[in-house]
Amino acid sequence: MSLLHVDSQKCRRDGVCIAECPARIIEFQPDGGFPALVAGGAALCIHCGHCVAVCPHGAMTHSAIPMADCPPLERSRLPDAAQVAHFLRARRSTRAYKSAVLPRETITGLIELARYAPSGHNRQPVGWLVIHDPATVRQLAGHVADWMRHLIAEGAPLAAALHVDRVVAAWERGEDRICRGAPHVVVAHALQDDPTAPAAATIALAHLELAAASQGLGACWAGYFHAASLFWPALGTALALPKGQAPLGAMLLGIPRFTYHRLPPRPAPQIAWR
Ligand SMILES: Cc1cc2nc3c(=O)[nH]c(=O)nc-3n(C[C@H](O)[C@H](O)[C@H](O)COP(=O)(O)O)c2cc1C
Repeated sequence: MSLLHVDSQKCRRDGVCIAECPARIIEFQPDGGFPALVAGGAALCIHCGHCVAVCPHGAMTHSAIPMADCPPLERSRLPDAAQVAHFLRARRSTRAYKSAVLPRETITGLIELARYAPSGHNRQPVGWLVIHDPATVRQLAGHVADWMRHLIAEGAPLAAALHVDRVVAAWERGEDRICRGAPHVVVAHALQDDPTAPAAATIALAHLELAAASQGLGACWAGYFHAASLFWPALGTALALPKGQAPLGAMLLGIPRFTYHRLPPRPAPQIAWR
């Protein structure tokens, strides 16, 4: 069975699927034929689903991409450009959380949305670890505090650059500036040596943060946590990622205690034009 099937009753031979295919593995069959997979094309297909999604006539089906997984795009449900601009400008890092625990389904829903982020060659290499138990989050933050104490003791330049002495002092008075009292941490991870993975994980986490904001949830990049997961073996061990997997980013998650009433300022972008 071929990977692609073109319904000859519906296909208008407009070539849209051919022009859209990122792997360039669809061609017109000779002598006025319909689009079809080139020889050896199945091995090159990246399963992105563009050919199915872009055909205006619904003529293309892909044997590995069920139509049920490609529901119609409802243009009337898309926000307009001004709404998107306002939403992007309104997203903030949340550093004060309610203690309420989010249902697993809510976090699963955010991760499912993050899967729609782009990834190199559509490899979708990112796996997820959710630290759902708030007590475990505190325990893991304790490892981060240990790493910071170690940096201070070593006189590491990073300790001064990140002002970790203040973070540790706060931790010792019971104030969590590491995980900010968030009930959950979401860690994105992928195979250690996948060159596409760091960008894919960063973009997926950025999508997750935006999805959280759209649902009135709070999120914040957990930079201290992530750095410690790379450099402090006790945290790496406690995370216990699957063998060969490396942490590529972490996000705090929960319900915000406060709401914002104004948009933030940003410096003008530096843009060079050629
Ligand atoms: C890679 C990265 C790591 C970050 N790490 C932390 C962190 O460990 N703790 C924290 O409170 N904020 C962290 N932040 C959030 C930034 O401080 C925040 O994005 C910035 O101050 C702008 O504020 P806004 O996100 O509210 O617009 C991090 C952001 C990024 C992109």
